[in-house]
Formats: sequence, C-alpha cells, structure tokens
Amino acid sequence: MMMREIKEPADILDPRHYDGVRRPYHSAETLPPWCYTSQRFYEREKDAIFKKYWNCIGHHSRVPDAGSYLTMTFCDVPLIIVRGKDMVVRAFINSCTHRGSIIMEGEGSCNVLKCPYHAWAFSLEGDLIGTPLFEESEHFQKADHGLTPIRLELWCGLMWINFDPNAPELATYLGDLSDRVAPWKTEEMVCVARREFPVKANWKFYAENWSDGYHVPFVHQTTLNKKRVSKRDFHDPKIYLGNYLMHWTYFNGSRGTPEGEAKFPELDLPPELKIGTFFPYVHTNAMIGFAIDMVSCTEIIPEGPGACRLFTTTMVPESTAALPDFQQTLELYLKYADKVRDEDVIAAERQQRGAESALNRPGCFTPQDKLVHDHDLWILDRVVGNAAP
Ligand code: FES
Ligand SMILES: [Fe+2]
Repeated sequence: MMMREIKEPADILDPRHYDGVRRPYHSAETLPPWCYTSQRFYEREKDAIFKKYWNCIGHHSRVPDAGSYLTMTFCDVPLIIVRGKDMVVRAFINSCTHRGSIIMEGEGSCNVLKCPYHAWAFSLEGDLIGTPLFEESEHFQKADHGLTPIRLELWCGLMWINFDPNAPELATYLGDLSDRVAPWKTEEMVCVARREFPVKANWKFYAENWSDGYHVPFVHQTTLNKKRVSKRDFHDPKIYLGNYLMHWTYFNGSRGTPEGEAKFPELDLPPELKIGTFFPYVHTNAMIGFAIDMVSCTEIIPEGPGACRLFTTTMVPESTAALPDFQQTLELYLKYADKVRDEDVIAAERQQRGAESALNRPGCFTPQDKLVHDHDLWILDRVVGNAAP
C-alpha cells in the first residue's frame, strides 16, 4: 500500500472528510488521526460536546457540608462547586461579577464566597451580598450581579454539570438508564475513594477503550483476563434508549480483586443482574461499572488534544463500608483497579503516539470493537454534524 501523509485539512469540519467513518462498521474507517491531535478539532469538541451535554464531576460528598466548596477548571471554564445552607449543591463560574477576578481557590469550607480583589461577597447560593465602600444606587442593584450559575444535577450520587441552559434535564438525557440501574441503589451508597490519573492521550482514546472488548485478553492478560468471560452484550439502540453506550460482561461473582483474594459482600440485586458487570458509558465523559459488589465511575476531564485526566470514584453501601476488615479489602480493590487502569492508560498513550505519526492513516473496526464505531459516530454527529444519508 502506498504511504500517504495524512495532514489535518484546512476545512476540518467539512463532513466529506468523515465519509469513511460513516460506513457500516465492518467497512468503516476509524476517525482520522487529526481528530486525536488537532487543536482545532479539540476546540470544536469543547463547544459542541462538553459545553452542550452533561458531564460528570464526581461524587457529591466532595462537598459534604453546608459551606463546603471546591474549585476546578472544566474546558477552560473556572468553576466553583458549593453546597448551600439548604444543602443543595450548586455550580457557578468562578469569576467575580465586578471585574472578573477568580473568587475562590482550591477547596475547603466557607460562610461566604469572597472575592480577594475588592472583597465583594457572594452567598453560598450565589447572590451578591456585600460590596465594601460601595452602595446600591439607581445604577447598581446587587440583585443584578449574582454569580453566573451553571446547571448541576445529581444522579447516582454523582454531580453532573451542563453549560447549556437549553439542554434537556439530566433524567431526560439519560433515557431509560436510571430505571436500568435503580436496583443498585447507588444514591444510598457512600464514596470510599476518589483517585486521579493523568493520561498523555486524547480523551477519546481512553473513552473508546471502555467500549472495546477486544483488548481485554491482550492488554489485561495477567489481570482481568484471568477471570473467564462467558459472553458480552453490546449496545443496541433499539433496546437501550438514552445518551449512553452500554455493554454487559458476563462472569461469575466479582472481578474487583484477583481470584482468591477478599471481596466485598454481594449487593442485594435480583438474580438477573448478578451475571457480571453492566458498563454504560454516559456521554460525554462518564464510564460507570455497576458490579455485583460495588459501583465505580471514572470521569474523563479533557486537557487538550493530547492529554486528559481520569478521576475514579468508588462507591459501596454503608453496610459494606462498616465492615471491620473493609479498609484492608478496599486497598485490595484499589490496588487491582490501579493495575488494570494503568494497562489501559498505557494502551491509550500508545495509540496517541501512533496518531501523532505523520504517516498514520485511518484504521478499521472488528465485531469486538464495533461499539467504538458507535461512540465515534456520536461524537462526529455533534462535532461535524450528521452527514448520514
Ligand atoms: S473583581 Fe471581585 S471584587 Fe472586584
Ligand atoms: Fe481495558
């Protein structure tokens, strides 16, 4: 085959560049390599995906009490997440309505959100309540200068933000997913760990890997592959209705620690759900594993075309967390999860290095990674527009 250099085209959003991706999966091409390396494609993803749809930002216990706050940057937008006196968690742009200063840094607890520049004070609910040396007048009413709110909803004990005021509410967006996972009673679970992992790869490489059953025997040869998987069910959009892509992996018992090591007690689930793990990828950024003994969610925070950051939340019922040997068993779970994740991170970083090669060209899909194709089409429909005939 002739080698040809695949350069990022000037008209990167022209749907014709992606015709090959839109064919049925068995003859489709993967996304062109520039989708994983281009600053322009990434900028478009921020606007067309991350600022339009629901994004997970971790468990609500990150702000446990009234006055607890944290700050973060999501797609270049500085945010404050704060729990109000009414115990409602809210998100605001972390930029003062006077002259734009960052208001809060880091995380902690406070009674008011106070800007360090001219000491304007905002309530935990975002209202402007203090303007030192400056009175209200016919020109200035505090009520007009509250913090800019960002939508935040809770689901499965997790916080989800959406920058688009016109987007459907989270329950509508999720479709039937809430009903499907209701038996896990995730809202009643406690978060027992949150871990952070930097990845030197485009966010899509890690995201796609979630829906790829093909790599497991090879990338996870000495870990997950030790447990026999009898079957995988892949997403069928006629059955699973919502903005997510799921697969079920069938195996006996728990895969949370290696065979022979301690496990958490099984959850009180109906027998038809004790068949393995249910793995929905909730667009845009949340990979959730509903297992027989726990629930974990990994959120991907994009940090540029060639980098992202993972945060993994581990949730169990209070009764599990109260067991005398819980901490020891949890360490086993986390150690094993770290190992498996490292294997996936290495795989994603290798793909990134491959995509950055000037002589790379689009690849192809197999029946075992065809969900990756579905994932890429979800992205393409939003970034470039749906050019399907
Ligand atoms: S910029 Fe915040 S008080 Fe002036
Ligand atoms: Fe994996």
